[in-house]
Amino acid sequence: MTQLDPLEGKAALAVQPPPEATIVAFDGAVRSSKTVASLLMWVEFVSRLIRTKRGGALAMVGRTEASIIRNAVEPLQQWLGPSRVVLNRGLGIVTILGREVYLFGANDVSAVTKIQGLTLVGIYIDEAANVPEVFFNMARSRLSALGAMMFLTLNPEGPKHWVLTKWLKRARWWIDAHGKMHEKAPTDTVMVPNDQGVLKPQPVLNLWRVTFLLDDNTWLVRNNPAFVAELRSSYPKGSVFHQRYIESKWVSAEGSVYPMWNEDTMTVDLEHLPPVEMVYMAGLDYGTTHSTRAYLLGLCRFPTDAITGQLILDPSSTRERGMSVPVLVILDEYAPESATVAEHATGFLQWLERNAHYGRPDWIAIDSAAATFKVELFDRGLDNVMGAFKAVVPGIQLVQSLLTAQRLVVVRERCHHLIQMLPEYMWDTKATDRGETKPVKENDDEADALRYVVYTSWSSWRHLIPLAGMVAQPTEDE
Ligand SMILES: Nc1ncnc2c1ncn2[C@@H]1O[C@H](COP(=O)(O)OP(=O)(O)OP(=O)(O)O)[C@@H](O)[C@H]1O
Ligand SMILES: [Mg+2]
Repeated sequence: MTQLDPLEGKAALAVQPPPEATIVAFDGAVRSSKTVASLLMWVEFVSRLIRTKRGGALAMVGRTEASIIRNAVEPLQQWLGPSRVVLNRGLGIVTILGREVYLFGANDVSAVTKIQGLTLVGIYIDEAANVPEVFFNMARSRLSALGAMMFLTLNPEGPKHWVLTKWLKRARWWIDAHGKMHEKAPTDTVMVPNDQGVLKPQPVLNLWRVTFLLDDNTWLVRNNPAFVAELRSSYPKGSVFHQRYIESKWVSAEGSVYPMWNEDTMTVDLEHLPPVEMVYMAGLDYGTTHSTRAYLLGLCRFPTDAITGQLILDPSSTRERGMSVPVLVILDEYAPESATVAEHATGFLQWLERNAHYGRPDWIAIDSAAATFKVELFDRGLDNVMGAFKAVVPGIQLVQSLLTAQRLVVVRERCHHLIQMLPEYMWDTKATDRGETKPVKENDDEADALRYVVYTSWSSWRHLIPLAGMVAQPTEDE
């Protein structure tokens, strides 16, 4: 059991909602103590139900069952001890202070069936902006027991996201990022878009919203200021993720996806490549109607400039050298013309052979949509083929963090298409209007394959290249 220090700052304020509040929503920056504060409220709520002998089902929801266990159940176990918080993974149930709570993953619409017949008295949704809207609506409609409550934690998304426009903006009470309280009368209305996007007045909700900033986690700022500083710098200033995850703003993703990409400081000449210490993975995006692309990811150590800390990519540089650091390197690109599955397989194997002097990649990650290609490789004796982790936003975030930290470089003579296409990889402004965050599905074959190989291999190199901003664990379906 670990001691949880008493809540302080905005978190201490946030856990005292007005008594009429039936939805509690904490949004804002990463690591800003939303989960800590909301979990304390959740435990308090569960114990109140037990004390007052109130029935009804309880549920805790994440994008996947694994993520709700990792983000919420495990911290609860640490604070309260394993005898008070008993997890049964097989049944998908956690028993908190003797009361059973269902654990659900809601990463696609089929999750709706999990809660369809329930009469809920309480639901806790972690990363609530990432569950499907139909699931959220169903959850809300099942909260029919007396005294029912909903607890949400979420990071900001685009300004048109349904959870903001249809729920958070209808809050009767809101403490904003700067600590200012906005209170509405119970009879007030808010303009809310309907399914056709037409704005209609809707009544305010008994919703208590608190927007957190990273600085609001005074506990973390005091106990680990170095981590907080690293976290801030891991999201490039001005980027959409800095605005959302550090400044707590619901802003659109616009323009270039990788504005921090700089060909001059992020490519290395083949002749200057230091010895390759590891070859982690080859990642391939297979196309029938678009180009097929693959990248080979390895690790080298580069010297840094003693004063600026910048990588020294040209050994003839006279700059004073500081320490050497591990850096991911895109060693080679597979960029064939269109061909049959069999021809692609032959070409890909030849490409792997051409790079065998670096060492064989531990894994070959392939777009899970390319089932026939995977089978073809398997038939030809490759037994280390796996599905690529394809989650777009976390994958992009990881590549952005690496580029910003200058821990990902590309071999110049080998990766012509990648170097040419990266600056043309753009956020989709039409998707933004629907509240979604994703890049334009054009000129994206190189960027997709790059993202697959980097994101899928993360667990192999994350201990060597820690990135403070990256906290989620990737899985294939997240
Ligand atoms: N009062 C406290 N006592 C002990 N630890 C705390 C306290 N407040 C916050 N922390 C620690 O600060 C860290 C971040 O808090 P938390 O996980 O609640 O942030 P979050 O806002 O939910 O972040 P994310 O958006 O990344 O999910 C955690 O490691 C948590 O244990
Ligand atoms: Mg959290």
